[in-house]
Amino acid sequence: MKFRLTVTSQHPGNAVALLSSKFQVDENKDPGKPNLTKAELLSALKGKDAAICILQDLMSDEVMAACPELKLIANVAVGYDNIDVEAATRRGILVTNTPGVLDETTADLAFALLMSCSRRIVEADRYIRDGNWKGFDPDLMSGFDVHGKTLGIVGYGRIGKAMGRRGQGFGMKVLYTRRSSEHTKATAAVGEAQPVSLDELLAKSDFVSLHCPLNKETRHLISAQKLALMKPDAILINTARGAVIDQKALVSALTSGALRGAGLDVFEAEPDVPPELCHMDNVVLTPHIGSASIETRTAMFDLAAQAALSAFSVQLPHNSVNPGVWPRFAQAFKEAKSSR
Ligand code: GLV
Repeated sequence: MKFRLTVTSQHPGNAVALLSSKFQVDENKDPGKPNLTKAELLSALKGKDAAICILQDLMSDEVMAACPELKLIANVAVGYDNIDVEAATRRGILVTNTPGVLDETTADLAFALLMSCSRRIVEADRYIRDGNWKGFDPDLMSGFDVHGKTLGIVGYGRIGKAMGRRGQGFGMKVLYTRRSSEHTKATAAVGEAQPVSLDELLAKSDFVSLHCPLNKETRHLISAQKLALMKPDAILINTARGAVIDQKALVSALTSGALRGAGLDVFEAEPDVPPELCHMDNVVLTPHIGSASIETRTAMFDLAAQAALSAFSVQLPHNSVNPGVWPRFAQAFKEAKSSR
């Protein structure tokens, strides 16, 4: 008998056909309902050996406890804050993510938000559609230049660096911070991205773009106190995770004019977006589409499917988040195989 695998959402590409060679696959095929409720998730996972899930599937200790056969969780995302990895590790469940295939696409969206905010593109589009345009006006919809400005990148991993390259390509000075550079002295050559502390980055940047993972250290990293360090003319871009920013503090800063604007692809309690943000012209909102190109979403699902195929061929997937669990996975796999 084949191993049982559930795919909790629809994805582009042909990976389901590949998976079917090894697994009995159950798929959530309802395009109108991409996110499962907790009860639906539990029902989809019941009796399954493996799950290919998305970031709205909260894979908690409680969910894992209810699914004793589960041996693999393949997240179709590079971030995995929706999974209690500690609990998975304790239970011998292997977790994988999708690093490396979405960096450029996510940086494209972050830069598109930056450009949209600085040049008021969404606001201008709405202005025309609402029938307001009366003719050329030298004052109409003037925004702010991007070239010559300072771009501060919080989280200088693969996506942060891809964002940095875009900034440099547009003639920006690039500063960055990451955990290890918090106390690093500036050593960059002229024209290179320069490591600085978070406080210095916030104080000096005209645009701040967040690219760090969400974890205990980064939850509400951009607090009211940190927002107060930013220039009142600055624009904040977030394509990482909503909870990296204290969303209430951000709404206050935007309302009071302490911050010029924001481009937000992620929110603290998706899909809920604070109504105040929806009424602000200086804010551009997108529905968590950082990696949403057909090519990249296909590559992400292919990578997750490949991880499942590798693990159930007893080969440790290169994109394992908790590879230390592997001997226990291999043992559980062996026992399950011999009992079928
Ligand atoms: C998307 O948000 C991801 O983490 O891949």
